[in-house]
Amino acid sequence: MSAQLNLYENLADELGTLIAGRVFAPGDRLPSIRHLSQQKRLSISTVMQALRLLEDRGLIDARPQAGFYVRHRARTMAEAAPAERLDAPGYVGISNLLMKVLKANESPGIVQLGSAWPPDELLPVRRIQKAIATVARRQPAMLSRETCVDGNETNFTRQVIRRSLDWGRIDPAEIVITNSCTEAISLCLRAVAKPGDTIAIESATYFVILQLIESLGMKALEIPTDPRTGLSLDALELALREGLVDACLFIPNANNPLGTIMPEQNKKRLAALLSEHDVPLIEDDVFGDLCFTADRPWPIKAYDTSGNVMLCSSFSKAITPAARVGYVAGGKFAERLAFLKMVSSGTTSHFFQAVLSEFFVGSSYDIQLRKMRRALVQRIAQMSDAILRYFPEDCSVSEPQGGLVLWIRMPEGVDALALHEGAMRKGIAIMPGPLFSASGKFGNYMRLNCGNAWSPGIEGAVKSLGELVYRAGERT
Ligand SMILES: Cc1ncc(COP(=O)(O)O)c(C=O)c1O
Repeated sequence: MSAQLNLYENLADELGTLIAGRVFAPGDRLPSIRHLSQQKRLSISTVMQALRLLEDRGLIDARPQAGFYVRHRARTMAEAAPAERLDAPGYVGISNLLMKVLKANESPGIVQLGSAWPPDELLPVRRIQKAIATVARRQPAMLSRETCVDGNETNFTRQVIRRSLDWGRIDPAEIVITNSCTEAISLCLRAVAKPGDTIAIESATYFVILQLIESLGMKALEIPTDPRTGLSLDALELALREGLVDACLFIPNANNPLGTIMPEQNKKRLAALLSEHDVPLIEDDVFGDLCFTADRPWPIKAYDTSGNVMLCSSFSKAITPAARVGYVAGGKFAERLAFLKMVSSGTTSHFFQAVLSEFFVGSSYDIQLRKMRRALVQRIAQMSDAILRYFPEDCSVSEPQGGLVLWIRMPEGVDALALHEGAMRKGIAIMPGPLFSASGKFGNYMRLNCGNAWSPGIEGAVKSLGELVYRAGERT
């Protein structure tokens, strides 16, 4: 046993030295397990133990179906702000600015590093075309189907339930099919909070969440996050104890923009905290299927025994955003959600629910997910490498565990909103950091979309952005 221990420790040390000496530089792929086993005449399990040890030491990362890669350590993000530094809840006012930025970003011919949409080439477009044709031919009634009250297509809700079996089971009675994840979140906010109430959110968070809170006249309470583990539970606990929070709205799996996955023990503690304080949680799990971990991470709903958690998601990111089909598993708020859905937008397209059901029956969603995850891991690594190459030394980059975006901290004093204008003049769309905060934080941050296939055009755009950041840094 101790000889075995030495063998894997020796190999880990040897690889660690090669990494420190940059023989294997950040972003490089290590030789495969089989190759190392043959080269070092060690068993596969010894090599795997060595690689796990290097992972524990924070030197490498496993990327599913891709191998082990040297971690970008020197330029990754610093720890979160201390828990005791909580801002007061406040009204949100980003909408005018956000609409201006989104409109500019949609100008034709732009290099799209702004919005986080998956490119067509990664989506199963052919299989969707086939599913549309099959439903139109075999179920023509779907082309005109409408209902007043029960808008859920049974076959589609069955698929949603099947996908939940890995972590528990969604009750069919709690499902409301919605027009995408955005509508699901909007309904949840209206179901559990009223104007003037306070919604705890991650800092930073997805700008549409802020916009929804703003449009409903609610306040946001920004809870600090750690760049590796996400939401600070200590900070949230403090806010809950002080009675500051009416509802929570978090993205625990592949948070947007940080890409963090909340560790499972934190999810458990969060579910218990919310139950103890009887505070509802709106859980945005839209990127849950696109996490890079070996197993799909569980939602917080898996740990909820109180019915307080409303799980929101859609198939916009991995099948097609055009169907606008999402859902909420609403726990004890399901009835209210169903009512709000009916009076807000009637039912969600029965035709597209049937198309997605047909897609699930006729082809493998898991194969689609594997293909997307593999591509996204590689594209994020390529973008991350380019940022390290072209941006100033004192920039740091997130290490997403899922999704398709990178979050970048630029030198203090660089104005991301001015940088957005400079980038637009060069035909490049980015998302400036302040749009991810209710109170104008992250002035020197930006988010980049990594979904597109790496190309000289994208590399050129990252290089131009780097030059803009250098110039902005010189002026500060
Ligand atoms: C975290 C998060 N939630 C929800 C959405 C929106 O999903 P949908 O298109 O299904 O409304 C997005 C889209 O970018 C997102 O990033």
